[in-house]
Amino acid sequence: MDHPFKLKRVHHVEFFVGNARQSAFYYRKGFGFSQVAYSGLETGQRNRASYVMSQGKANFVLTTPMTKDDEAAEHIRKHGDGVKDIAFEVEDADQVFAEAVRRGAKPAVEPHDVTDEHGTIRRAAVHTYGDTIHSLISYKDYKGPFLPGFMSAPIAGDDCGILRIDHIVGNVELGKMQYWADYYANVFGFHRYITFDDKDISTEYSALMSIVMSDDSHSVQFPINEPALARNKSQIEEYIEAYGGPGAQHVALRCKDVLFTVGKLQQNGLDFLRVPDTYYAALPERVGPIEEPIDELRKLGILVDKDEEGYLLQIFTKPVEDRPTVFFEIIQRKGSRGFGKGNFKALFESIEMEQARRGNL
Ligand code: FE2
Repeated sequence: MDHPFKLKRVHHVEFFVGNARQSAFYYRKGFGFSQVAYSGLETGQRNRASYVMSQGKANFVLTTPMTKDDEAAEHIRKHGDGVKDIAFEVEDADQVFAEAVRRGAKPAVEPHDVTDEHGTIRRAAVHTYGDTIHSLISYKDYKGPFLPGFMSAPIAGDDCGILRIDHIVGNVELGKMQYWADYYANVFGFHRYITFDDKDISTEYSALMSIVMSDDSHSVQFPINEPALARNKSQIEEYIEAYGGPGAQHVALRCKDVLFTVGKLQQNGLDFLRVPDTYYAALPERVGPIEEPIDELRKLGILVDKDEEGYLLQIFTKPVEDRPTVFFEIIQRKGSRGFGKGNFKALFESIEMEQARRGNL
């Protein structure tokens, strides 16, 4: 495998949203993020307002357009609220941009300086699936609250134990999964980590195929889904119709104590997918001994899966906007580096019930 450059981390995920001030409140009160920085009219930014939300090492930027001509306005018209940018921190944005473009990435933003009184960063961007981009950010001498142009605007959230972003899943059109898997291999030097096909994950309706692409350190993992042919509309097709094209389907947030984290999130009023109680009756036999009391997992609706390396605990929110598009996963890993294949059937049956309620099955 050829390694053109190293991605240090996911610097942040930027969401374009209809009302960033209210979204900031939702991520603070719902998910326990703390607001750390802001840019908008008060910082001289007249076209957009952005709120930076952090918990553990996970950073979200919530951006709303303030003029009808801003690019974010068109993005929201087309997609509703959604992920615009999965931004990477890199050693040298110019070098990574040049090499990525040489390897076939479509340029989005040419490398340029961004400066304020706290210092300077270098920033560029390349396109990925749909209207989504990857910004490439390298630090020169910047020492401010987030990035140049942002002012410190702290409002503490009630931390829910979220540590970092675990993975971000992209939904692409039928027949395009391999194309985008190749893109991450060719452009970023990722390797194919796991493949799921329709034998693993088809229910009567909701068939999908997935390839997980990962960097060497597994610090950046991007599963790519495409719909598989099934009797009726796949959840991936429902997403692509509602989103108006390919895009980020879910952001998985890793935590260290899933019972604590999910307990808090449910107290906060977040809505999660549920599986039938029969799932828990079958669980001891399926996964063997685990440390968490099954009764507590059942009460919270947390799912468990096991592989050769260990096990994982996970749960999925319902979509967090009115269009059935972006949702979140909460995941705790106890040795397993998988994605919960053993839960797909129970989970997809639950998703199909929701699709049916929406008239989309
Ligand atoms: Fe996931």
